[in-house]
Amino acid sequence: MSNSMKENQVTSESIFWNRRQFINNFSLSSAALALGASAFSNNASAYSANTGFTTAEPLSSEYVVTHHNNFYEFSTSKSKPAKMAKDFNPGNDWKVKISGEIEKPGDYTLEDILGFTQDQERIYRLRCVEAWSMVIPWQGFQLSELIKKVQPNSKAKYIEFITLESRSTFPGQSGGSLGFSSLPWPYKEGLRMDEAMNPLTFIATGVYGKRLPGQNGAPLRLIIPWKYGFKSIKSIVSIRFLDSQPINTWNRSGPKEYGFYANVNPKVDHPRWSQARERRITDESFFGVKKIDTQMFNGYGDQVAQMYKGMDLVRNF
Ligand code: MTE
Repeated sequence: MSNSMKENQVTSESIFWNRRQFINNFSLSSAALALGASAFSNNASAYSANTGFTTAEPLSSEYVVTHHNNFYEFSTSKSKPAKMAKDFNPGNDWKVKISGEIEKPGDYTLEDILGFTQDQERIYRLRCVEAWSMVIPWQGFQLSELIKKVQPNSKAKYIEFITLESRSTFPGQSGGSLGFSSLPWPYKEGLRMDEAMNPLTFIATGVYGKRLPGQNGAPLRLIIPWKYGFKSIKSIVSIRFLDSQPINTWNRSGPKEYGFYANVNPKVDHPRWSQARERRITDESFFGVKKIDTQMFNGYGDQVAQMYKGMDLVRNF
């Protein structure tokens, strides 16, 4: 599996939107934007010839990817975010504040960002810390492209990402009334600079050939396939370059249970459950599926293990 991907290796345009169409059609309904999504078969191997970022494992269906979600700003239920996010359709004017140890700070719109990054498709395993997993065809761009554009200086050692804070958009941020107030809002995540620059690290703007639905973290969310899913922060409004390690939301709320690194590791159990195996969700049988063995770094060790050489992965969980 190669990490270098040329423009002409990208899956043919017919199976996902063309950037211009994407931008111009922004105000149209999502149905109008569903460009050829039916061309996705339920088998990822069909794409292996086109991209270096894929897997031969069966894809999780579009339905389960968009109807079994963790998005606590909406709800702690897996099924409710899809219903609650119906009116959450952020536009091209969505702003991301990019700041900190960089030469080009500013408020960048989604349109700005799409203007200087390349569309790619990635089929990645997503392994949740709760021990379920999916195989998902994302569209978006490699995070390193955005980082290079804003020119980090030598003090930039880490990056912090922050989700939109808006009680009118996200009822879950009001906490108490929903019976859940334990997460400190807004949701935050962080990466070490080398992790952020790794070619696998991706910003998704679409899934299954359609614009990213609200429940999956519209309009742009992080994807780090060798880490537990909680690192894949949704609906990002701030990217800050720092000289010291930021605190991520789940680590702050449960420091003994959720670390900063959160690398998928079948040998380091969560204090309350084993991480040795996972429930691979491919279709609506959600719970009827067989468990499979979890792989170290979620199977991406060849591309990422060298970043953690000499590190104690039990202590740095
Ligand atoms: N980002 C925000 N802002 N809020 C969240 O609750 N949940 C995380 C992650 N990103 C979450 C988030 C968790 S625990 C997982 S497993 C993935 O999103 C789930 O992504 P999906 O719903 O697209 O499958």
